[in-house]
Amino acid sequence: MSNNEIIIIKSLKKFFGEVKAVNGISFEVQQGEVFGLLGPNGAGKTTTIKLLLGLLEPNEGEMSVFGLNPERNEVAIKRRIGYVSEEPLIFKSLTPKDLFNFVASVRGLDANKTTNLAKEYLESLDAIEYYDQLIATLSHGNKQKLQIIAAILHEPDLLILDEPIAGLDAKSVRVVKSIIELHTQRGGTVLFSTHIMEIAQELCDRIGIINKGKIVGIGTIEELRQQADKVGASLEDVFLRLTEQDTSVNEIIKKLRASFKVKN
Ligand SMILES: Nc1ncnc2c1ncn2[C@@H]1O[C@H](COP(=O)(O)OP(=O)(O)OP(=O)(O)O)[C@@H](O)[C@H]1O
Ligand SMILES: [Mg+2]
Repeated sequence: MSNNEIIIIKSLKKFFGEVKAVNGISFEVQQGEVFGLLGPNGAGKTTTIKLLLGLLEPNEGEMSVFGLNPERNEVAIKRRIGYVSEEPLIFKSLTPKDLFNFVASVRGLDANKTTNLAKEYLESLDAIEYYDQLIATLSHGNKQKLQIIAAILHEPDLLILDEPIAGLDAKSVRVVKSIIELHTQRGGTVLFSTHIMEIAQELCDRIGIINKGKIVGIGTIEELRQQADKVGASLEDVFLRLTEQDTSVNEIIKKLRASFKVKN
């Protein structure tokens, strides 16, 4: 193990009553790496992310972010993290201008510099026209852009993005992909979850596949192919194999054909 781990998770568990949302997960993320979390709905991705951010308390296991314990050093860690949650923005009665001023004051950033940077990012994401408009009145994708901008204004060392691309138009996806790449080029690290295989394939140095609270595959795409015993397969095929959904999906499609009364 090198000394460049930004995130270390060991045998992490989080239960909600009977539900074992995270059931013994271990992985590390190195500095400068883009690490993707993939998994079916309800697999435990968001719970893992919230544990790392200190937003949830684990039942068992160990975590470290920048060598600190997220349970104890919340502020010291949060200062160095930019987080995009999977839920939409809650500041609905603010405008983007208010939001970014708020971010600047909470983060202790220079107000003018932050305004200029925010405007530049809004322009690059085709959303500058909404600068003075109430966030409540914006479309889903435009709200998502604001979350992303709010997460990068303080130039964090670590970006934690829970499905950042969901709901964005094609051009914005391109821009966000560049933001992620540029962030790593200046030494930053990224942990993100996604359901979009092409995004994972394109952006991630390594991927952890989670199923039912456990890691069922981890590594580069090539290493995942080996773990799934699927040489040359697409990430989607590898994902469906490792999450044991490949046969069930075929069965489901067969049944659907019957109920749609479409002949084979
Ligand atoms: N606050 C909570 N109370 C009770 N159960 C919860 C809570 N949060 C999550 N769960 C459960 O924990 C499991 C993991 O949920 P989680 O949100 O981590 O999944 P996910 O991998 O992020 O899924 P998705 O792809 O749909 O976002 C699910 O069974 C979910 O219903
Ligand atoms: Mg989630």
